[in-house]
Amino acid sequence: MKLLKAIKNRRSIRKFKPNPIQDTDVIQILEAGIWAPSSGGTQPYKFFILKDRKQIDRLYTRMLTKEVQRVVSHPSVDRTKEEVRDELTPYFRNIQRAPVHILLFYDVQVGADRFTEGDVDRFKAVTPLYMSLRDSLIFTAQNMMLMATALGLGSLYLEAFRRHPKVIADTVKHRDTLEFFACIPIGVPDEQPEVKARKVKDFLL
Ligand SMILES: Cc1cc2nc3c(=O)[nH]c(=O)nc-3n(C[C@H](O)[C@H](O)[C@H](O)COP(=O)(O)O)c2cc1C
Repeated sequence: MKLLKAIKNRRSIRKFKPNPIQDTDVIQILEAGIWAPSSGGTQPYKFFILKDRKQIDRLYTRMLTKEVQRVVSHPSVDRTKEEVRDELTPYFRNIQRAPVHILLFYDVQVGADRFTEGDVDRFKAVTPLYMSLRDSLIFTAQNMMLMATALGLGSLYLEAFRRHPKVIADTVKHRDTLEFFACIPIGVPDEQPEVKARKVKDFLL
């Protein structure tokens, strides 16, 4: 697939078929991710490939519960837990059907080892570096999603899971110096989202 075509064809997919995908496709998607640019060439990321159906379902069910709690606890929300749960459930269930969910982590230790003799707190205090290395993960995520598109697969950049790091930590036991960045579900799309046309001239100053 030509690059601009893949870029334009990539859509955020929020409804997947349960069909399995090939391990070789997952490897290619990860390969695309690790060939993205990274700040100082540090490659400050780690991936956890979630494929176990029970683990996936547990993760999404817990995220749904946490999101319902978050929404109803907002002072401006005047709806019951049941109403919010009914509204959010299809969104979670349709995404969780994807057979593979790549959990992307920012490996802060990599930056600390390179710039502050392994001292993570000091590295985090040096904000521009901490942020610069962290920005690298956006490129990695985009490369992976484009590769998924080129392979005829759907994907989503699911950042909202960041709101509940404890749920992620319970799903994947990880060291403190790995910060959860995003979940990228990958699978066969079960929807074709509509998109508005985008024109370069609308964005020129
Ligand atoms: C930084 C960022 C965070 C996002 N977080 C979420 C998210 O948590 N959940 C979700 O369903 N979509 C998320 N998206 C997807 C956007 O909603 C989507 O890219 C946008 O609506 C445009 O649609 P398209 O990706 O199909 O072009 C995120 C996208 C970006 C760039």
